[in-house]
Amino acid sequence: MVQNQAEKKPGSPGFLLPGMKQIKSYFLLLSLLCVPGAQAFEVFSPLPTAAPVPADNPQTVEKIRLGKQLYFDARLSVNGTLSCNTCHDLNNGGDDGQIRSVGALGKTPRRSTPTVFNAAFQSVQFWDGRAESLEAAVLYHLYDPTVFANADEASLVERFTAIKNYRTQFSKVFGREQPVTADNIAQATAAYVRTLVTPDSAFDRYLKGDKNALSLNARRGFEEFQKVGCSACHFGINLSGPPVPMGEGFYELFPNYSGSEYDRKYNLVTDDLGRYEATKEDIHKRLFRVSTLRNIALTAPYVHTGTIPTLDEAVRVMAKTQLQQDLSDEQVKYLVAFLASLTGKFPRQAIARLPD
Ligand code: HEC
Ligand code: HEC
Repeated sequence: MVQNQAEKKPGSPGFLLPGMKQIKSYFLLLSLLCVPGAQAFEVFSPLPTAAPVPADNPQTVEKIRLGKQLYFDARLSVNGTLSCNTCHDLNNGGDDGQIRSVGALGKTPRRSTPTVFNAAFQSVQFWDGRAESLEAAVLYHLYDPTVFANADEASLVERFTAIKNYRTQFSKVFGREQPVTADNIAQATAAYVRTLVTPDSAFDRYLKGDKNALSLNARRGFEEFQKVGCSACHFGINLSGPPVPMGEGFYELFPNYSGSEYDRKYNLVTDDLGRYEATKEDIHKRLFRVSTLRNIALTAPYVHTGTIPTLDEAVRVMAKTQLQQDLSDEQVKYLVAFLASLTGKFPRQAIARLPD
């Protein structure tokens, strides 16, 4: 029934495959959808008001304040041209609304920029999950020639050490020994990103028992979401799958059914092999992390290629490529109403004052 690159092992406790601990990739066996009781996996829970914090990077007020300054500081880029906020605009849903962003040196990252809001709830970062933490994501970015394009740590450290106010702040937060390092930049910035959470969406209020929180159309959409089968992959607090341990990811084939008109229309099948690029394991070809759907109404364009311009279209494409279904206009309308109910309350961000 379903093309699935993962092998089904009879008698396995659930949809988590044996051996995936080593490869740090979880797949869902779609065939299990036909098994009575499979719905039990599709648990929805409200977004907590605070994100999980790793033991080796505890949150402190000073660290978050430093991280916020770094987030808005273009001096993170090799030539002072762009900050995190250029691509992940906090007043614009946490992304930049572009098909693809442009890095410090005018080069284009190969995938569309995702939102940073609620990224802290994701067990891995990036479309292919190659960053195992927020800290790792920042470190990748610092040296990525299509993002901040720093040549090495030394030049970065020199630049920030020369700024007295930063030197003082880093010493306060990380100690005097070696205050400014790439790791510490990553730690502080990640600590700030962990505050970028958007709880209390209409859907969250609905899950907490306020049955009137969802409009009639959104409620119909929630039913469709489960009936059509979106919820086979999109469930859990971030609607991005099961709660796997931090550092391990939950991936699916995209497109799961290739060959539809959409592949060509939106250029969905490229030389980007997704998870495979991180692991070089053949069974990971074209697997992508199941995306969060929180605030999805605000983060067009869609999917890793950034080629799907509207949410209506993204819903149609997903139904076709992931579930081999054609939706009616009504179904699309309801599903979009449901997805709009996933827009949460954004933390108010006062402008950060940056050291001279
Ligand atoms: C030039 C644009 C650009 C800049 C500047 C930038 N990012 Fe990104 N960011 C991206 C792109 C593109 C991706 C997706 C990369 C991929 O999947 O291969 C991404 C992914 C991420 C993710 C993972 C989100 C997810 O859902 O997987 C986080 C977190 C993140 N960036 C945080 C930051 C922070 C913090 C900064 C500043 C230190 C920053 N970014 C600066 C473009 C940018
Ligand atoms: C088989 C698993 C699976 C099913 C079923 C599925 N999705 Fe997805 N979804 C994914 C994956 C994987 C991605 C990431 C695609 C990529 O990397 O480009 C995704 C991405 C998305 C996105 C784009 C996210 C973004 O930030 O751009 C939307 C919107 C979406 N799904 C909605 C839906 C809807 C609505 C349904 C039901 C009609 C559905 N999905 C069914 C796996 C699935």
